[in-house]
Amino acid sequence: MSIPPSGTQRAVRWYPPAYDIRVETVPIPQILEPDDAIVMIKLAGLCGSDLHIYRGHEDVDADLTCGHELIGEVVALGASFHPGATDRPELYSTLRVGDKVVSPFTVSCGECHFCRIGFTCRCIHSTLFGIPKLPGGQAQYTRIPKAGGTLFSLSALAAQGKVDATSVSDSSLLLLADILPTGIFAALQALQHPKILPVLTGRAYPTSGFIPDSAISGQGATTLQRADRVLTIAVVGLGPVGVCATVSLLDMLATIGVQQGLEYNVVAIDPNESRRRKVEAVYAAIDTTSKGSGSFTVASIDEGKQMVQKNSNGAGANAVLEVVGNNSALKLAYELVRPFGLISSVGVHQEPPIPFTGREVYDKNVSFDFGRCPVRAMFPLALEILLKRQDVFGAVGEEASLVEKIVGFDEAKESYELFDKGECGKVLFNPWL
Ligand SMILES: NC(=O)c1ccc[n+]([C@@H]2O[C@H](COP(=O)([O-])OP(=O)(O)OC[C@H]3O[C@@H](n4cnc5c(N)ncnc54)[C@H](O)[C@@H]3O)[C@@H](O)[C@H]2O)c1
Ligand SMILES: [Zn+2]
Ligand SMILES: [Zn+2]
Repeated sequence: MSIPPSGTQRAVRWYPPAYDIRVETVPIPQILEPDDAIVMIKLAGLCGSDLHIYRGHEDVDADLTCGHELIGEVVALGASFHPGATDRPELYSTLRVGDKVVSPFTVSCGECHFCRIGFTCRCIHSTLFGIPKLPGGQAQYTRIPKAGGTLFSLSALAAQGKVDATSVSDSSLLLLADILPTGIFAALQALQHPKILPVLTGRAYPTSGFIPDSAISGQGATTLQRADRVLTIAVVGLGPVGVCATVSLLDMLATIGVQQGLEYNVVAIDPNESRRRKVEAVYAAIDTTSKGSGSFTVASIDEGKQMVQKNSNGAGANAVLEVVGNNSALKLAYELVRPFGLISSVGVHQEPPIPFTGREVYDKNVSFDFGRCPVRAMFPLALEILLKRQDVFGAVGEEASLVEKIVGFDEAKESYELFDKGECGKVLFNPWL
């Protein structure tokens, strides 16, 4: 076991009930459990999920250290980390002090049933960073519980030649902690959904997916007409996570379009004009092979409704990705989706109740997928898209860059205020500025 620095550090802290951000001096965290690591933070993200707490919507009644997106360097490891720990997740035997790591925004042990099957965000030990119980990443040091299961080692990836540490910036790699995997998750939940299968495979339901062998024999699959194989997808919400969802969706559709010969169109919707301009710049920056030949429209809410109707001949969207986290967005998603469509929602929802009646859901045969992204499991996919899309995820502050700026903690309060109002894009904190 190694010992982290002692003494105090600076951290961004939130006080109830709402909108109260302070930069304070707090103790440097220490190893509490053998599976812990202490990480010195290089960069920490400000995220739409921080805003739910900031606005007082999460029913949190104690002060906390903010943030759940972090990249940094290991400065101390608990007693579980040693070369003989080969019966546990790999990092328990390989992680070293000095290694560069990214942490997903929740703890996952890598050993329970949920972790083993890839639903890592529902690990039986799952805890979110940035709550009173587990101080977050907007600090100079953070304690990572179950660190051998939770962390990604970028040093290990660099050693395997998978990441060129000199060409990929920390501000880019930080996006692996949450928003890029979450954007991919939003798109994948839609494209892997059985309700999309008829359009993807060209076979009518129910022969588009699994059916018992006995039922297939003799029945034959009904082949769809070309007009039935036009896929319409709406993205609702174009904040940083919405940008990640849009880029990932286009990337996947480009591949599916070529492989499966289907036509598709995407309508990306946000009421905030600057968010729409960002997505237009991002789309313009992506090469054709990565965005495919489908149509892509960026729209306000009213324009978006019209475009979805027009593109789908009045049927509605096959799938809606909801990347906002409020009831107005859920209502819009319901309005946009067609009968037998699906809503893939990654927005974190606070307002009870969900704005649909049982009858409305019944009347459209809607499928819903809600919830947290299993970031740890999404990491290989996310890394691939991150490296491929350095035109969007690489630089800081350019027209098509997802990350708008990197600031010190002195600008934390103002950054929360601006981000809350949608007056800036993705902001990262460098705790040492
Ligand atoms: N499921 C997960 O694991 C996960 C992970 C990360 C973030 N999130 C959530 O994703 C959401 C988005 O995060 P972000 O960082 O992009 O936040 P953000 O607040 O910057 O973006 C939200 C966007 O939605 C837009 N919007 C508001 N109402 C709308 C409506 N009715 N229709 C269309 N657009 C609307 C806003 O203008 C804004 O651009 C948040 O709820 C966040 O908590 C979830
Ligand atoms: Zn986040
Ligand atoms: Zn687990």
